[in-house]
Amino acid sequence: NELYLQGLAGTVPPFTTDPERLEESARERLGPGPFWYVAGAAGTGATARANREAFDAWRIVPRMLTDATERHLGVSVLGTELPAPVLLAPVGVQAILHPDGELATARAAADLGVPFVLSTAASHTIEDVAAAAGDAARWFQLYWPNDPDVCASILGRARAAGYRVLVVTLDTWTLAWRPRDLDQGYLPFLRGVGTAIPFSDPAFRAGLAVAPEDDLPMAILRWVHMFTGTDKSWDRLGFLREHWDGPIVLKGIQHVDDARKAVDAGVQGIVVSNHGGRQVDGAVGSLDVLPGIADAVGERVEVLFDSGVRSGADVVKALALGARAVLVGRPFAYGLAHGGEVGVRHVLRCLLADFDLTLGLSGHRSPAELSREVLRPR
Ligand code: FNR
Repeated sequence: NELYLQGLAGTVPPFTTDPERLEESARERLGPGPFWYVAGAAGTGATARANREAFDAWRIVPRMLTDATERHLGVSVLGTELPAPVLLAPVGVQAILHPDGELATARAAADLGVPFVLSTAASHTIEDVAAAAGDAARWFQLYWPNDPDVCASILGRARAAGYRVLVVTLDTWTLAWRPRDLDQGYLPFLRGVGTAIPFSDPAFRAGLAVAPEDDLPMAILRWVHMFTGTDKSWDRLGFLREHWDGPIVLKGIQHVDDARKAVDAGVQGIVVSNHGGRQVDGAVGSLDVLPGIADAVGERVEVLFDSGVRSGADVVKALALGARAVLVGRPFAYGLAHGGEVGVRHVLRCLLADFDLTLGLSGHRSPAELSREVLRPR
């Protein structure tokens, strides 16, 4: 309301309210290394493009005179009432973008009551980010370490620090072929990783011959080794269940059969996601697979969605196609690059305001009123 009314009264906002222009201006601010760490995608970028095309393939059909003046954006996700069906996706090594990194993001998210999912590859510790989040909902994303002791240690720390929901990312058991990162030797990423969560973990450090402070390249190699490989299976999800007492959400589901396996594994949620097109090049747009997955398992697990969400209309479309809530990645990373906490808050407020207005102007008062009836294929 504030941004919108100020705008109507002639006040120019601190940063652009347009996601595309925000990306352009992040490019100018960040320089090529950090910018391409965020903007880049796998291979030719076809999957990242497919994510946007998938949204463009649906059109909202607005309804009139429905009395949508009063709107309620709240939804219940995994037993918690959220102010809106939006979360901040896990994004690693945020100190590349702003020195306050995840601390700034956690504060901005907490201020608006929006959950922020902290990445295993974060550049601030689990405990410091928990303190920055205050009373807000705490979600932790796991890159599943090969060493069970390291895995148990990280999960134990997250539980002790008050994180309730565990998001297990399945699609990144090794980093994809990402030409933009390879061309610069992954340097911005590696510099950031030197401060990432595993480096502060006692079980991880116990496996190193030399402290990371004294031999960072060696520690990074162990980090890569620790988080690379497919010796995990659906059966081994039981290990995570033994070490986590809250809801578990599997991130990176794209196939209906995998969604069914997630149900059989007894998890509470899934994120239909292709990692923002950063893993498999030439893959299907994430929104293209959402309706089939929601139809198959939507009654048995909570279906969340990400990859390509940029606008309020995108949130309307994803919800209408069966998502309970969406996660956004790159847009808030660009906000962080613009102004730390203030920038993330700005991006979130813009997205929520845009969603609120689009929901109302298309004739709906709440997320619950959105269904496939609201959309037409292009
Ligand atoms: C990511 N993503 C990600 N996912 C995850 O599970 N752990 C992580 O550490 C990261 N790191 C990361 C860094 C950057 C720079 C980006 C852009 C993305 C993926 C992220 O959670 C989410 O799936 C996508 O960003 C969603 O797509 P959009 O919103 O960026 O299009």
